[in-house]
Amino acid sequence: MRLQSDDGTRRLRDDEAGIEEAAAILRAGGTVAFPTETVYGLGADATNGEAVARIYAAKGRPRFNPLIAHLPDAEAAFAQGRFDEAAQKLAAAFWPGPLTLVVPLSEKAPISDLARAGLPSIGLRVPHHPAAEALLRTVARPVVAPSANRSGHVSPTTADHVLADLDGRIDAVLDGGSTRVGVESTIVACLDGAPRLLRAGGVPREALEAALGRPLAEAGEAVIAPGMLASHYAPAARLRLDADAIEPGEAALLLGAHAPAGLDRARVAINLSPRGDLGEAAARLFAALRDLDAAGVDTVAVAPIPRHGLGEAIRDRLLRAAAPRG
Ligand code: TXA
Ligand code: MG
Repeated sequence: MRLQSDDGTRRLRDDEAGIEEAAAILRAGGTVAFPTETVYGLGADATNGEAVARIYAAKGRPRFNPLIAHLPDAEAAFAQGRFDEAAQKLAAAFWPGPLTLVVPLSEKAPISDLARAGLPSIGLRVPHHPAAEALLRTVARPVVAPSANRSGHVSPTTADHVLADLDGRIDAVLDGGSTRVGVESTIVACLDGAPRLLRAGGVPREALEAALGRPLAEAGEAVIAPGMLASHYAPAARLRLDADAIEPGEAALLLGAHAPAGLDRARVAINLSPRGDLGEAAARLFAALRDLDAAGVDTVAVAPIPRHGLGEAIRDRLLRAAAPRG
């Protein structure tokens, strides 16, 4: 086994041998990108501060943000944090699945300070993906994993996206094909009795509120998700949101069967889901932003996206992608 190889990043198959190898690298303090149902994560042993530091070096992250710790099942996650009634309900309803719960750190949890950015809370997630589950079970330690992209780039939904950003900067990528959900997990903080939505994501708000039997509180000043930089998901192209017509020279990002005025003069047009399915649109979003960048377009006119269901997460990512660069 090699760490930090000079000759690029190894691409591992998501079979038993590949998963064993990936787990061995993680246990030795290395960095491995792996698939989840949302996006690819860049994993490191959460209990090893030096390993966690390698994530920041690889991503070129300007500062330390708290990271999400990934576990193979709810039982393993319960050992890391203190779950109030709301957190227990949400874990029962959505794990494994695209939901991260921020809860007070358990005293016995071995997670390093750096992984939490010094916070007394921890973000926990049980991904719904066979290769991720097998990897986490084999590592048998919490694995922190931010999205496996260079800081400020869009999140990767294939192993090729990971290598485009991080080849030579990480030890390996476990190739599990395209991710199914395509946007990151929903983050809910359960810290003060009132569950709060910190980030829209793969589990829609409506589903969370149905499971809780009450509305979610908004993230107040008290509980922020540090690292939610406004321009976090930035492609190179400028995005013009809620566009009802395409201007000359623009590319078009569409949803549904409706053809906006001026579509015939669009430089490139990508439809996230011709049948208007928000799940399909979420799964294709980040690859579409990468494809538009690769086509070298300056401005993308983005069709209106509904606000319900996964539309909230899609709109959130597009707003960040459209935000002025800091
Ligand atoms: O779907 C996902 O969640 C992916 C996959 C790889 O699991 N991961 C991901 O990680 O999106 P990342 O690092 O890109 O985003 C994690 C977010 C950050 O905005 C961070 O501030 C927030 O989670 N977060 C983590 N722990 C937190 C805590 N204790 N309190 C508040 N926010 C926290
Ligand atoms: Mg990210």
